[in-house]
Order: sequence, then structure tokens, then C-alpha cells
Amino acid sequence: MIFGCTVLLILKFCDLDAYRSVQTVDEALDTKQSEEAERTAALHELVKKTQSYNATTTKVALVMSKTRSDDLRWLRDYLQTHIDNTPFIYTMDKKPETELLVAHSSRGREASAYLSFIVDLYDELPEYSIFLHANPEQWHNDLFGPHTSSVLHSLRREAVDAMGYLNLRCTNNPGCPTHVNPNNPTQADIDKNDARANFPTIYKDIFGEDAQVPEHIGGICCAQFAVSRARIWQRPKSDYIRMLNWVNEKSVPLVDDYGVGWVFETLWHVVFGMEGIHCPLYEQCRCDNYGWCGPLPSGKTLTAIAAV
Ligand SMILES: *[C@@H]1O[C@H](CO)[C@@H](O)[C@H](O)[C@H]1NC(C)=O
Repeated sequence: MIFGCTVLLILKFCDLDAYRSVQTVDEALDTKQSEEAERTAALHELVKKTQSYNATTTKVALVMSKTRSDDLRWLRDYLQTHIDNTPFIYTMDKKPETELLVAHSSRGREASAYLSFIVDLYDELPEYSIFLHANPEQWHNDLFGPHTSSVLHSLRREAVDAMGYLNLRCTNNPGCPTHVNPNNPTQADIDKNDARANFPTIYKDIFGEDAQVPEHIGGICCAQFAVSRARIWQRPKSDYIRMLNWVNEKSVPLVDDYGVGWVFETLWHVVFGMEGIHCPLYEQCRCDNYGWCGPLPSGKTLTAIAAV
């Protein structure tokens, strides 16, 4: 009798437990589904903004590549208070995400999204284009914590006017002071047939046969930067089309998909008119880009760059 009761009790508890755990799974599923729905709604809102792009009222294009796992609710929120920005979101999934823009190549990660935007919008660019990654936070952002929205909010447009091109990141490592020595690859690079071993060829494929290959190339890493319209227009559209062709076809015998992204990460500053080595001083960069000018520990306060 006592034994029977115990069994019954255990069964009862077990049942209850089973019931409880089913319920939590259900709740978790509900939360997940509503989060999914919210993400989709946010994306739809962003797409509508892209579709109603007006080059007269938009000051800033925010250009990014996106994979399905990237959550863009941060961008929807950011744009609610930054109404002169328009997003241009390129899907980089094998199976394109509905409604998003499709790049002219599926190779090279963000490189093909950025180049596709320039080619597609060349004749109707807004004053500023900011190229960035889709996820809301990442280690590439070095000044305001990881949040991309704080970086964007604080960026000085005067600095983009004055310099034409600027990297959103100020920390000089990795990428500076020297990233590639095109004419002087190491034996290890040659043995691995690394992109570094083929850099002069790659450089001429990208910039044209007549381009002078720099002795050294260095620039801040991570492929997030702002460019003025004037600076993008310093190259004819045909240059960007040639670059896209390289991403798509010509690069194939020299580098893999990852290599294409790496090559452009190494060269964006050259694409946008800077010297082979472009490594601004950290403190000055912070001051120019974001207005954080001091006083420095030395007591000195810097002056932020302004267009003349
Ligand atoms: C773009 O905005 C301007 C200024 O508000 C307006 O005059 C123009 O009609 C708009 N263009 C389009 C295509 O909606």
C-alpha cells in the first residue's frame, strides 16, 4: 500500500515536471517566434526606407552586407532618430533573403556588397556613404564600446568632408603600419601561394595595368569606413565595375572567396584615394572622427580637422 502510494506520488510529480518542462519549451518557442517576427518586421521597415530612397533628402547611405543570422533591429531604432540616413542592405546568403538587395557577386563577403552599391547608385549617391557590418556590436568598434550605433551617432561629417575617406576605427592594429609588401613577399607566402605572393598582379587587376604598385601597403583593418560622394566620384564608374569583375571572375585563380575579402580590406583606403600607407595617429583620429580631442594625459588638447 505504502509502496503503491510512493509510486503514485512519484508518477504524479514526474507528470507535473514533464508538464512544466513542456510548458517552458512552449514559452521559449513563443519568445523565439515573437523575436523572429520582430526581426522580420524591422527588416521590412528598413527595406521600405531603401525603396523610398530620395537622393535629395538623404544625406547618408548606410551600406552593409547581411547574412540571415544578423539582427538589424538596432538599425531600425537608430534610423528613427536619424531620418536623413537611408540603409542599403545586401543579402549575402546563398539563398537570398527576400526583399533585400542582391550584390553582383556572391564572392568576397562585404566587398561585393560595397562595390555593388557604388556601381548601382553611382549617379545618385548621397553626400556621404558609410560602409559597415550589419551586426549591432563587434570588436572592430574601438571608441564607444562595441555598439555601431554609438559610432555612427558620433561621427563628424566635417571630417569626412575634409578627408574624403576615413576608417571608423582608430586603433592602428591590425593593419598598420605595414600589412603587405607587394614586391617583397616572404618565402612562406610564396610556398603557400598566399595572396601576398601575387599582390602586384592582383593590384594591377584591381586598379588597371598602368597603376603603380606601392612598395608598402598599410591601413587600419576591418572594412568599416565613411567616404564622401566627391571622393567616390574621383574614380569613374568603370573602375568600380573592373573591381567587381575581379571579385567575380579574374580573382579566381589567385585567391579564394575569403582571399577576395582580405584583399579589399587591405586596399579600401587606396580605392578611395589615400596613400599606400594610411595610418593616422590614434589620438588625432579620435579627435578628427569623433571630436574627442582631449585634454590628453600630456595636458595637450588637439584640434579637430575641418573642411576649408
Ligand atoms: C525628393 O525630395 C524632394 C525634396 O523634398 C522632392 O522635391 C522630390 O519630389 C523628391 N523626389 C522623389 C522622386 O520623390
